[in-house]
Amino acid sequence: MKIGIDKMAFATTDEYIDLRELARERGDEPDKYTIGIGQDRQAVVPPTQDIVTLGAAAAKKLLSKDDKKHLSTVIVATESGIDNSKASAIYIKHLLGLDDFTRAVELKEACYSATAGIQFAKGLVAMNPQSTVLVIAADIARYGLKTPGEVTQGAGAVAMLISADPHILTLEDTTVSYTKDVMDFWRPLYATEANVDGKYSTNVYVDFFLQCWQRYQQMTGRQLDDFAALTFHLPFTKMGKKALEALLKDNQSPVADKMREQLTASQKYCREVGNLYTGSLYLGVMSLLQNGQVNPGDRIGLFSYGSGAEGEFYSGILQPHFEKYLSDVKDDLANRHQVSIAEYEKQFNSQLGMNQDDVELDWQSDPALFILKGQKEHKRIYQEKK
Ligand code: HMG
Repeated sequence: MKIGIDKMAFATTDEYIDLRELARERGDEPDKYTIGIGQDRQAVVPPTQDIVTLGAAAAKKLLSKDDKKHLSTVIVATESGIDNSKASAIYIKHLLGLDDFTRAVELKEACYSATAGIQFAKGLVAMNPQSTVLVIAADIARYGLKTPGEVTQGAGAVAMLISADPHILTLEDTTVSYTKDVMDFWRPLYATEANVDGKYSTNVYVDFFLQCWQRYQQMTGRQLDDFAALTFHLPFTKMGKKALEALLKDNQSPVADKMREQLTASQKYCREVGNLYTGSLYLGVMSLLQNGQVNPGDRIGLFSYGSGAEGEFYSGILQPHFEKYLSDVKDDLANRHQVSIAEYEKQFNSQLGMNQDDVELDWQSDPALFILKGQKEHKRIYQEKK
């Protein structure tokens, strides 16, 4: 039975900063950010947005009335959880008006867990091929003002419907997972910003990619030319280049050059929003499908990485008319507006975070469909704006 990704949709905030401006403000060369790191813009998160509002906004774009009837499960993959106990999937299920006879859970393993969610969803659909599973990867990447990680922040959500006979990508059965206890990036329960050993994390990432790729090759006998493109978790676009070049080395063959061109296509959207943590790989897939040279029948490789650390390499086959089942990311990105660095810093410091007080946020000025109005008696208040 063919199982895979049937639909994909993306949502981010409507504000961004220009990273050249951030570089100048931080006393860095703009080229370091745009070339050395490979990022042009970064999503700015107003306090009225979080993983619930972003996740609901992405999911709302793809769920038809008919889709809602077949949905058995909602899985939210995130490392930006808003509660240590209650799953964000329950808030999202409510905002989307889904049937009460639906399972709703949250998964965590840094940037990797959306991939686990997809694999679990595949199992659920195999058991009941009439049913579908909604996997939402939603995160806010936050390192702190004036830290080396600041330029690699970002935010957004990718929602994916997993079904039998999918319209976008049929997932192949061979998949390689690789896990080791590594302290490259982590966030203790008392912290709102991540701790990171930045350079070490990039080396661990590359090592995990090569381990997974080599094992995948041993298991399948497939070579690079069996793929139309490889896609990567993109914490920043240069990271994908580092991983691909570690594989290609000085290979200048047409296949290697094609992989480099396809990588550029897959990096386009990440350049504009930054790291989405769990969603980054999947925004990269959307970027490839909307900007790359790909056709139905092509095999795409996916490398998922989450610090801590876990990697997975797997593959899928593109389906006819796949392009019709993706939300319009270009339009969303074009409709955002730029804010100043001072405004970004103000918003960065206005998040609810660990605040325990009752708060009413300035939600009227947020044009998003779903908003966080504030919190009362330790409960977050969400609303869909009609
Ligand atoms: P840094 O120390 O500020 O930067 O931090 P740098 O000095 O290493 O410079 C970066 C690059 O810019 C270098 O290129 C420089 O040569 C170049 P590279 O050697 O890397 O190819 N450069 C310039 N290029 C052009 N013109 C110039 C110029 N100046 C310098 N004038 C770092 C960089 C990525 C470490 C930092 O931003 C950071 O810590 N980021 C967060 C960690 C991260 O994203 N790690 C990625 C792997 S781990 C992962 O992907 C998981 C993650 O998503 C979390 C999760 O799983 O939940 C992060």
